[in-house]
Amino acid sequence: MANSAPATRPAHSTLLRTLAIFLLALILLVAIAVIVIWLAVKPKKLVYTIESGSIHNYNLTNNHLNATFNFELRAYNPNSRVSIYYDRIESTVYYDDQTLAVNSLQPFHQPKRNVTRLNLNFVSTNVELFPGVAKNLQMEKMSREVELEIRVKAKIRFKVGAVKNHRTLRLLCAPVVVPFSSSKSFERTPCDIDL
Ligand SMILES: *[C@@H]1O[C@H](CO)[C@@H](O)[C@H](O)[C@H]1NC(C)=O
Ligand SMILES: *[C@@H]1O[C@H](CO)[C@@H](O)[C@H](O)[C@H]1NC(C)=O
Ligand SMILES: *[C@@H]1O[C@H](CO)[C@@H](O)[C@H](O)[C@H]1NC(C)=O
Repeated sequence: MANSAPATRPAHSTLLRTLAIFLLALILLVAIAVIVIWLAVKPKKLVYTIESGSIHNYNLTNNHLNATFNFELRAYNPNSRVSIYYDRIESTVYYDDQTLAVNSLQPFHQPKRNVTRLNLNFVSTNVELFPGVAKNLQMEKMSREVELEIRVKAKIRFKVGAVKNHRTLRLLCAPVVVPFSSSKSFERTPCDIDL
């Protein structure tokens, strides 16, 4: 036993070194695998645009507004491996930083590589406007079109295989130029996205 003791030492350290190299190689492999998987499913940027907009039943009297605003929001998911669950979608339409109306949509699931068109219908019922804002809106009415702003906030989940990733999606669509008369054409408005 006393004679073999010096011999076990180098054998021991060789084993340790082999183990260390093995572990390092394993960590490296796992890291490479994670990078490859991430690159493979890396979500492409989602694309949102306001495709159409119109105003109906408009009446602004004594700084009080009645109107309905109808918009079509186009949501494009270009990803071939990622689908999206929209759990809660709340949108607000503003004029001159004043809230005109809010709207919430039913949850839905957007498949991979899909375009979904959502109807954002806002109803303003006797909304009191600041006098200055009402005056500006009246002037816009005379110019036959109005510049609005739409903000959307949604709780979403990205689904990749069996993995789901919770996020909050924020959209800012502005300026959305909406004609008061249907004879004028609407110009598509891209939305800024914040994830
Ligand atoms: C707008 O609303 C006011 C007050 O409710 C009403 O007196 C008026 O007739 C309405 N105007 C139009 C064009 O509907
Ligand atoms: C808006 O509509 C409500 C009824 O829904 C009515 O009482 C109010 O007078 C209207 N206001 C305007 C400005 O038209
Ligand atoms: C997108 O997905 C929705 C909901 O599943 C479906 O109704 C619609 O037809 C799809 N659109 C396209 C262009 O694939």
